[in-house]
Amino acid sequence: MKTGIESIGFYSPQYCFDLRKLAAERGVDGDKYIHGIGQSYMAVPPIDEDVVTMGANAAREAIEKVDASAIDAVIFATESGVDQSKSGAVYIHRLLNLPSTCKVVEMKQACAAGTMGVLSALGMIALNPKSKILLIASDIARYGLNTAGEPTSGAGAIAMVLSANPVIMELDYRHGTYAADVMDFWRPNYMDEALVDGKYSIRVYLKALTEAWKDYARSTDRTFDDHDRFCYHLPFTRMGIKAHSYLYKHCGDSVLDEASLPAQVDASLRYNRLTGNLYTGSAYVALLSLLESPDEQLAGKRVALFSYGSGCLGIFYSGVVQADYRQYLPANQHKTMLEQRSELGYEQYVSMYSTRLPIDGSEFMANKHRTGHYRLAGVCAHKRIYESTN
Ligand code: CAA
Repeated sequence: MKTGIESIGFYSPQYCFDLRKLAAERGVDGDKYIHGIGQSYMAVPPIDEDVVTMGANAAREAIEKVDASAIDAVIFATESGVDQSKSGAVYIHRLLNLPSTCKVVEMKQACAAGTMGVLSALGMIALNPKSKILLIASDIARYGLNTAGEPTSGAGAIAMVLSANPVIMELDYRHGTYAADVMDFWRPNYMDEALVDGKYSIRVYLKALTEAWKDYARSTDRTFDDHDRFCYHLPFTRMGIKAHSYLYKHCGDSVLDEASLPAQVDASLRYNRLTGNLYTGSAYVALLSLLESPDEQLAGKRVALFSYGSGCLGIFYSGVVQADYRQYLPANQHKTMLEQRSELGYEQYVSMYSTRLPIDGSEFMANKHRTGHYRLAGVCAHKRIYESTN
């Protein structure tokens, strides 16, 4: 039985900020952000969007052409959740009118939670081949203003229906893992912004990559050259390029010339360069960016996927793109969504970044901004109120 991706939805906020403008404000050479870090824009969510509304928008697109009555679980992966107890999945379950027999849960292990969700879903489908699982990875990557992490901020959500009808990509459950207790990036419950030891986090990412690769290679007997394309967790796009070159050198058995490495990752970097980090969704936005690239013919190609969640967990696995994959991807919608964003000025960026919901239980109705089909209308008595916009 084949299992894997039957459909994909993607959503990123409709406001963005140009990293050249940020560099000018921070007194940094713009080339550092554009080339050194590899980011052109960051997506900026307004006060009436959060991980639930972004996830609901992505999920709505993912279930558009799928028999939604067959969805029997919603797995919501995030590291910027809105509640310590109630899962984001349950709000989305209502917004999308999913069956009451559907299970709902939220998963966390930094950016690796999306992949843990995928692996869990594949296991559930193996036990019940009729099952369709809606996996949503949604995050707001928020670092402090004026910190080194600021240019790697971003936001958005990706949703996939995983099933025994993987018309887009068959996923192989066999994977390699590396886990270790490290403090490279974390966010205590009482903080809005992540804390990070940036340089250290890059070193741990690369260690997790090679260790997870070794475990994967042992369990699959595959070599570097058995993979046509590579999609990495992308905290920023240069990390994907660095990771790929590092893995190539680590494996040391490729017949490829080093000059052919960019062609194996470039198409996967396009969307992230425009949205910034999506944490749990980043590796899958990389995959979508690759699949929707007009220059790629991927049918029958094996794509490697590496997820890295700080703290830390690395997971390496792979899948094979299916023959008619293009017809199941709303590539033009995604192109339009990213092209039609409103560009913020610096003051607007700081204001949007700094606006916060009350935490004392008082009533707050959010100003209406450009959003997707769902928005956070406000909060009252510590309860979030979500609404459809159409
Ligand atoms: N022109 C071109 N390139 C330039 C340049 C210029 N004028 N000036 C500097 N650069 C290059 C540097 O040479 C460097 O490239 P290399 O890494 O290839 O040497 C690059 O720009 C970045 O420069 P710095 O290392 O000096 O940048 P920094 O100290 O400001 O920090 C960062 C960069 C560590 C990524 C920081 O943005 C950060 O902490 N980000 C958040 C943490 C993060 O993303 N970690 C990644 C691994 S953890 C993870 O993946 C989980 C997750 O999602 C967070």
